[in-house]
Amino acid sequence: MIRRSIVLGTGSALPARSVSNAELAQRVDTSDEWIRERTGIQNRYIADEGETTGTLATDAAKAAIEMAGLQPSDIDLIILATATPDQTFPATATKVQAALGIDDCVSFDVAAVCSGFLYAITVADSMIRTGAANKALVIGSETFSRILDWEDRGTCVLFGDGAGAILLSAEESEDGSRGILASKLHADGRHNQLLYVDGGPSTTGTVGKLRMRGQEVFRHAVTNLAGVLREVLDMAGMTGDDVDWVVPHQANARILDATARKLGLSSDKIVITVDQHANTSAASVPLAFDQAVRDGRIERGNIVVMEAMGGGFTWGACLLRF
Ligand code: UT7
Repeated sequence: MIRRSIVLGTGSALPARSVSNAELAQRVDTSDEWIRERTGIQNRYIADEGETTGTLATDAAKAAIEMAGLQPSDIDLIILATATPDQTFPATATKVQAALGIDDCVSFDVAAVCSGFLYAITVADSMIRTGAANKALVIGSETFSRILDWEDRGTCVLFGDGAGAILLSAEESEDGSRGILASKLHADGRHNQLLYVDGGPSTTGTVGKLRMRGQEVFRHAVTNLAGVLREVLDMAGMTGDDVDWVVPHQANARILDATARKLGLSSDKIVITVDQHANTSAASVPLAFDQAVRDGRIERGNIVVMEAMGGGFTWGACLLRF
């Protein structure tokens, strides 16, 4: 028998307030035209005071649990990917656990910025396959609006807030054809000054603001993402033709197009939400995944490949049969 992690449910949550490019252009020296042309972004959601990484994560988790038809007490592992935790510690995952009313389970955060969800789901899958967990909530949740420099038009227009969750469950079968079939992670810390936050508890003692050298990140993103997508396809013994849906990290529509072109993937197989949500860092992949499941694009039996790249650099991909 082959033990695999299968997706039982998905969920997502967005702040109540949406902010269009036109609204942003009233407070920042930018234009709807520039943002659309350079990034594909039209809109983003921005958290109000009472909305935090933890509350958004909890709402996304509840939706995933409901879709799976489970009770919170069935969950034995919560991994939350975020670069914007509610507090420096404890892990926001433990706040989600408490909000869900789960008395005892393994709960921790992972920090790999925009590829955090890929890191989290790969760790959860490893724990499920070794028997260390049976039902795992894997969440990406961010409130990047709180670490944006609203004076820097080169970055503040690019990001939004939100959360997404995937509920994984252990399943044993003869052929192991369903569930997570391949995943691969990478990091190259030599580039950690191209995308970073200029603060932290151990350095400045402040939270800091996001800094990015956009063009250099762009260049690395296309190469790294195309490379890791090829790796997971090879690991699963598949080609681009076998893939039904690509759920990419939603940083920039031009990165998605360039990566798809490099791999010869048809652009109508790519789930795109960057127009509505902007870049929600670790939340972007599960948020897009949930949207495509709920609107009927991703169907049971489909081969879906997720990918992301972010600060560090870190990057990764995960291929599954839904
Ligand atoms: O999630 C983690 C991964 N992150 C990414 O993948 C982001 C990757 N990078 C990008 O998406 C793009 O590099 C950006 C969208 C950040 C920038 O696009 P670009 O085509 O590389 O533009 P640029 O930085 O070269 O800027 C072009 C011009 C500059 O003006 P000059 O020097 O040509 O006069 C900027 O000052 O656009 C100007 N500019 C703006 N203009 C209006 C920069 N930001 C803005 C703005 N509105 N918001």
